[in-house]
Amino acid sequence: MSSVSSRASVLVSRSVFPEVVERLREHFDVQTNDEDAVWSPAELAARLQGKKGVLTTGSERVDAALLAACPQLKIVANIAVGYNNFDVPAMTAAGVLATNTPDVLTETTADFGFALLMATARRISESEHFLRAGQWNQWRLDLFAGAEVHGSTLGILGMGRIGQAIARRGAHGFGMKVIYHNRSRLDAATEAECKARYVDKAELLSSADHLILVLPYSAESHHAIGAAEIAQMKPTATLVNIARGGIVDDAALAVALREKRIAAAGLDVYEGEPKVHPDLLTVPNVVLTPHIASATIATRKAMANLAADNVIAFLTTGRAVTPINTVA
Ligand code: GLV
Repeated sequence: MSSVSSRASVLVSRSVFPEVVERLREHFDVQTNDEDAVWSPAELAARLQGKKGVLTTGSERVDAALLAACPQLKIVANIAVGYNNFDVPAMTAAGVLATNTPDVLTETTADFGFALLMATARRISESEHFLRAGQWNQWRLDLFAGAEVHGSTLGILGMGRIGQAIARRGAHGFGMKVIYHNRSRLDAATEAECKARYVDKAELLSSADHLILVLPYSAESHHAIGAAEIAQMKPTATLVNIARGGIVDDAALAVALREKRIAAAGLDVYEGEPKVHPDLLTVPNVVLTPHIASATIATRKAMANLAADNVIAFLTTGRAVTPINTVA
């Protein structure tokens, strides 16, 4: 006799750790994507038929068209803290809960932000390429002499959890003067703890020796750093983007780097990634990494587990752990 499963069905749209799939299988019928292919919107919609929940990454766009094609969908759990791949108003209108993975990646991402800042300021990639190319034939006093990190002025654009974790590292670990700009100013106790001073964007740009971007991507933050902003920075400054592609105008940055309008940049995210603006690939004074700021095994597992927790909690109790929106 055939039996019809009463368990809800869930899709894991990218390859995740097996133990996360096993946890989901304790509650749901689970379809996975073991080849880790990035599905087109049509393929994603097809795989979502009959699914109440889905784990996504920043590569999967969730918009009104997808939601209209998947009327049974109840929850989309992003394995990321950023969720600019979601049209949240459309999700709310469709009664679909959106969740993300805050907190679990804060310290790891701040570590990476600092690593990229230091690699950029101290010219680590550029000097390694030089060495690997067999060009090192004598020690020189000014060989790959870069910018000082300790004691310098660290500028942070976007002062959420990750920005604050970077500020603590800079202020307490490296004796940096920390200035920040954010949509809203932090409370006095948090400013004191981070040893961070609020400034307007113009002062941030003109005073920072190292400017790190940690703000969410939105229509307002699109090209928040373009040619005009770079022109306000010190010619000795470094710029680090660990936030999202599109916050920096990559074409303008490549020109500025080539013309040495700023000393160097460190980028983990790109407009239209995984494509990288070809001009960035040819300038030497930029450190390029493939969107790995939260990529430690422990943190990526914690992110995937939190996304699974959200789906399990919402579909079994009606309450998610880290919701972005509210649905009736
Ligand atoms: C990664 O970019 C994230 O948003 O978690």
